[in-house]
Amino acid sequence: CNYFFEFLISHAKVYGFIFPSSEIYGGLNAIYDYGPHGVELKNNIKEFWWKSMTQLHENIVGIDSSILMHSDIWRASGHIDKFNELLIDHKDSKKRYRPEILIQKYVEKNFLNDPKKKEEILSRLSQSLKKKNLLDIKVLIDELCICDPIFKTKNWTEIRNFNMMFKIIEKDLFLRPETAQGIFSNFHNIVKSNRMKIPFGIAQIGKSFRNEIIARKFIFRMREFEQMEMQFFILPKEEIKWYNYWKKSRLKWHLDLNLVNKKYYRLCDHDHLAHYASFGSDIEFHFPFGFQEIEGIHSRRDFDLKNHEFFSKKKFRIFELEKNYIPYVIETSLGLDRLFLAIFSSSLKEEELKNGKKRIVLKLPYCLSPIKAAIFPLVKKNGLPEIAKKIFHDIKIHHRLVYDEKESIGKLYRRQDAIGTPFCFTVDYDTIKTDTVTMRNRDNMKQKRIHIKEIPKILEKKTGF
Ligand code: GAP
Repeated sequence: CNYFFEFLISHAKVYGFIFPSSEIYGGLNAIYDYGPHGVELKNNIKEFWWKSMTQLHENIVGIDSSILMHSDIWRASGHIDKFNELLIDHKDSKKRYRPEILIQKYVEKNFLNDPKKKEEILSRLSQSLKKKNLLDIKVLIDELCICDPIFKTKNWTEIRNFNMMFKIIEKDLFLRPETAQGIFSNFHNIVKSNRMKIPFGIAQIGKSFRNEIIARKFIFRMREFEQMEMQFFILPKEEIKWYNYWKKSRLKWHLDLNLVNKKYYRLCDHDHLAHYASFGSDIEFHFPFGFQEIEGIHSRRDFDLKNHEFFSKKKFRIFELEKNYIPYVIETSLGLDRLFLAIFSSSLKEEELKNGKKRIVLKLPYCLSPIKAAIFPLVKKNGLPEIAKKIFHDIKIHHRLVYDEKESIGKLYRRQDAIGTPFCFTVDYDTIKTDTVTMRNRDNMKQKRIHIKEIPKILEKKTGF
């Protein structure tokens, strides 16, 4: 698994999907840049989500709100007081740790043969976390110190709460840690301008920032990342109905998009809810490092609108049939980078070929592939490049294509396999006589001859959403 993950990170770099940010200056921890193929794949994922949310739901509209917002928004939303992680420092190395993870790791390592003891410690940890009792966690760490001199010499500081928002100090502003508040704060503008009626939703894609204590696992946990969120406003009495609806509907969406084994996805109810949530479930995906959250579905009830009403002194109500009420909210919140990693990791395969050689192939869903088709001349002479270039220029306005003649045909196929291009069209000597080309499929590598005129129709049918 570690070998595969290392290989995936290297493949993403070598083939222009993801680069470490600021690499020429040694990199920046947990920040990454998307390369030429990465940005195409990411844009396709965004477009797929956006269309399925807004175009396919007549009662969901979109918004693109600013990253910087009035700091009272974060007071009202509870992020200034409650968007915290626990933190403990190692005095000598000055490294920062999350105490609960430290304890979990310690217990996993040291109580392998004593499951009862392990269970007891983890259950005490879970209780203390639920009650947010820092003292209990510290006592637990002290007890572990007593049992283990090595742990004791680790030299830890007190446990404290650490706010995960990035602050721009001279302006007293924060980089948003979720896109949702841009939706809540525009609630009335959207209701009025678009004549929305309950139930309705507002969708948004955008960057969020969190000062994660431990950010790692490539693009899984970053300090700058992108979210695709949708807030669905409902009648309070319909909370359970819509919560269940969105749980089911979001899981189905993932399964329809990424046609891997269904067992790669699972729905889990939350134990530890965020400060704004009354119910919460995660859709988890089986990443190369195990099952982890990819999307959260929460009932935020009237937590946000009520608090904004209180702080802003503006009304956040719906007036209907001579009654007014603050609607409840069901939220679906998907990490774009995590979805990228899920799709990328489940598509990347090493396959043994009939001739004993191996090929690396990225079996992305066709509609998400960064490049839909490649056009090659069989050889760089006798007029074949000119015909291939003409095909490329005629179709490029409708489909994302590449023209390539830089290597031998076998190497050109391997490169397109590695970036996930579904089809390669090759111009050869028969093309001159018959206006046909060979069409090679990425997944089964089979080739057939088709007329040049068929190419746009095939791409439209097979690689569109
Ligand atoms: N508005 C609700 C909200 O932000 P969340 O569970 O904290 O809920 C939603 O985040 C999703 O955002 C997660 O399921 C995950 O996919 C993504 N996400 C959260 N923190 C992330 C990070 N540090 N790096 C990458 N993605 C992250």
